Amino acid sequence: MGISLPSLFSTIFFFLNTIFVLQSINSISSSTAGDGFSVRLIHRDSPLSPSYNRSMTAYDRIQAAAYRSVLRLNHIHSLTTTFSSSEHDISSRIVPENGEYIVTFSVGTPPTQVHAFMDTGSDAIWVKCSQSSPVFNPAKSSSYGYYLCDSLPCEDLGVGRRTCAELLDPCYYRVIYGDGSTTEGTLSRDKFAFEDPERNLADVGHLDFGCSDFSSWHFRGNQSGALGLSRQPLSLISQLGIKKFSYCMVLPDNEGSGSRMYFGSEAVISGGQTPLLKGVDWYYYVTLIGISIGDQNVPLPDGIFNMTSDGEGGFIIDSGTTYTFLRSEAYDALIEALGEAIDLPQRRGPSEWYELCFEGSFENLDSAAPDLKFIFDGAEVILMKQTTYIEAEKGLWCLAMVRSNEELSILGNMQQQNYFVGYDLEQEVVSFAPVDCATF
Ligand SMILES: *[C@@H]1O[C@H](CO)[C@@H](O)[C@H](O)[C@H]1NC(C)=O
Ligand SMILES: *[C@@H]1O[C@H](CO)[C@@H](O)[C@H](O)[C@H]1NC(C)=O
Ligand SMILES: *[C@@H]1O[C@H](CO)[C@@H](O)[C@H](O)[C@H]1NC(C)=O
Repeated sequence: MGISLPSLFSTIFFFLNTIFVLQSINSISSSTAGDGFSVRLIHRDSPLSPSYNRSMTAYDRIQAAAYRSVLRLNHIHSLTTTFSSSEHDISSRIVPENGEYIVTFSVGTPPTQVHAFMDTGSDAIWVKCSQSSPVFNPAKSSSYGYYLCDSLPCEDLGVGRRTCAELLDPCYYRVIYGDGSTTEGTLSRDKFAFEDPERNLADVGHLDFGCSDFSSWHFRGNQSGALGLSRQPLSLISQLGIKKFSYCMVLPDNEGSGSRMYFGSEAVISGGQTPLLKGVDWYYYVTLIGISIGDQNVPLPDGIFNMTSDGEGGFIIDSGTTYTFLRSEAYDALIEALGEAIDLPQRRGPSEWYELCFEGSFENLDSAAPDLKFIFDGAEVILMKQTTYIEAEKGLWCLAMVRSNEELSILGNMQQQNYFVGYDLEQEVVSFAPVDCATF
């Protein structure tokens, strides 16, 4: 372990400090969260992103995004299927490829800027901590405190996520991913402020977070943490008592104009609404009734996207998966129907993930392909051609949806672009309003 254990004296000091901090915060965070705030979302492949790799071509990026989607599905699946076991390790709810959109916030006093992946499929907030910049150095923050093993937040981590020999040890957390990668460190608390699109800081008070002294190579570079937005106890949503949030993701060629995410009173809940399924708080599950191509319904078995009583299958909305995943029976029916509906030369794509591709220009595709529509219980999402197909090779347009080899299906973030997607956690609905996100 890379941390130096403090002396008994400083342990007690920090213990008291933590108690003090805990007492002073609850009021601050709840009042600020009521106001609301917004942040810029930077796509990991945008030149604005710290993960941007100048030497990759557009086609490399598309391949990499497909690969990340597959990793993420495997990861999500491994979690949903182990859910019913009693010692379910909620630790792994951070994804191995850590998401697609980056938010900027600052931690500590004085504030240190952090770029972190936002993740609606995870609860954990963590930040790389070390003695060197550009990451957060807790020793230099006057508002920093950490938790001991006998604290409630340490208990909230769950047995699988903490290492505690003695009650007065610092609470050491460890997250192990589906692919074996890890992040670990001390469960901590400090001031957080989010950078709004005009670069002003919105103070949200103190948050519990993991101060990581070790994270594996997956978290390399300047992507120095994660921001979990699920409904579990340690997420941003739960800690701030946020009742609603929304986001609007621009098309990739508009990345300069910026995707946005809104919390609290700034969140926009508008357009068609579909119920969020109750009783599951680790992902946002909704009911997908069917898919249509033009005015034809894709022939699908009834309830194919329903979750079974043992928690298998179902349909989730995810911000961290790029391409939509459809379970095999639905994917086969969709590509067969699309293949018949679109009168362009077809072939398989440059990788196994692209099972249906059309040759031609974008204009050819645009006029030949009918609109694809996802029909939810109470809401519809009509996809633009730009959010349905990607140019995987020059002049080859592939369906940007992938076969799920599990029963689970996922609406990926590409298919949410140019929609205002709202999550109202009081009304328990997700809303979809088609907009040009670049104009917000
Ligand atoms: C990471 O951040 C540092 C300091 O902000 C900067 O000099 C460096 O170029 C960044 N690296 C990448 C890969 O963006
Ligand atoms: C950037 O992309 C190139 C080409 O795909 C690859 O060889 C290289 O390893 C990548 N660099 C990083 C830091 O990921
Ligand atoms: C699937 O779920 C919907 C909405 O809850 C329900 O109306 C339908 O009967 C279910 N279908 C099956 C086959 O379970």
